[in-house]
Amino acid sequence: MWRIPKAWTRRYGKSRLDSSKPEIWRYANRMRLSGQVAIVTGGARGIGKAISQSLSVEGAHLVITDVNLSEAQQTANELASGTRRSLALEANVTEGKAVADMVDRTLQEFGRIDVLVNNAGITRDGLLLRMKEEDWDLVMNVNLKGAFHCTKSVLATMSKQRRGRIVNIASIVGVMGNAGQANYAASKAALIGFTKSVAREYASRGITANAVAPGFIDTAMTQNLTPEVREGLMKQIPLGRLGVPQDIANAVRFLVSEEAGYITGQVIHVNGGMLMV
Ligand code: NAI
Repeated sequence: MWRIPKAWTRRYGKSRLDSSKPEIWRYANRMRLSGQVAIVTGGARGIGKAISQSLSVEGAHLVITDVNLSEAQQTANELASGTRRSLALEANVTEGKAVADMVDRTLQEFGRIDVLVNNAGITRDGLLLRMKEEDWDLVMNVNLKGAFHCTKSVLATMSKQRRGRIVNIASIVGVMGNAGQANYAASKAALIGFTKSVAREYASRGITANAVAPGFIDTAMTQNLTPEVREGLMKQIPLGRLGVPQDIANAVRFLVSEEAGYITGQVIHVNGGMLMV
């Protein structure tokens, strides 16, 4: 059961805390991830930042890992509050050694890992005939191999704990395809296959693995869409708007909670109804 931390009693005084107990209990009960440790890759901005914020509000300690350390640090500073800690660590998910070091640092700091969100992802769009091999490789390396490195690095710890939650951020495009995004669509479709395999392999250790497949979400990644493309997209979205990062964070927050303990190997589509499967 959650108790009022001694540090709060010292800071605010017992009588003041007693008089506001109902509010404190309400607040404490909302924190479904109290004491848990979550790693979010690409957590510095966009969807990853919204996910980090949501998990932090639920009481988790956050490791925000990104290629962009200064932005990750800024996000970590915004999150740190009360007893929750947040740590920014630089790691390029394409590099196995960098990922292993990041996971080691996490364990040194927090001693456990409860949640991994494989969110880091990039696009290098182009029609297939003109697509450069390096753009194919880069997208595959970040979006797919990155999840392989990160997942592999946390599995031993989660297995020992007999508990873990892995959420991979896929894409609507990985299910329906998209002209000009063959590399991206292939990486996200493969990520879904990867998710299902991890789910089957590690269910017996109490680890769940699921994917969230966002539709079109208003972030830096989609900021280059022309007004015409945006208008065309809007016509295909029954709910009549692009998504916002918080829409995705809400689904992730549910999947890592206790309530989602019987859900594994699934793809949760968050796309305003653009694709119904
Ligand atoms: P974003 O570009 O705003 O943020 C991506 C973050 O990942 C950045 O902080 C970036 O520095 C980091 N990153 C990039 N390469 C990295 C690497 N090699 N190692 C570590 N970190 C790296 O993108 P956004 O929109 O927030 O996307 C997040 C995830 O959601 C991606 O996996 C993306 O494919 C997926 N997604 C986004 C959609 C959208 O409409 N924005 C739609 C469907 C999926």
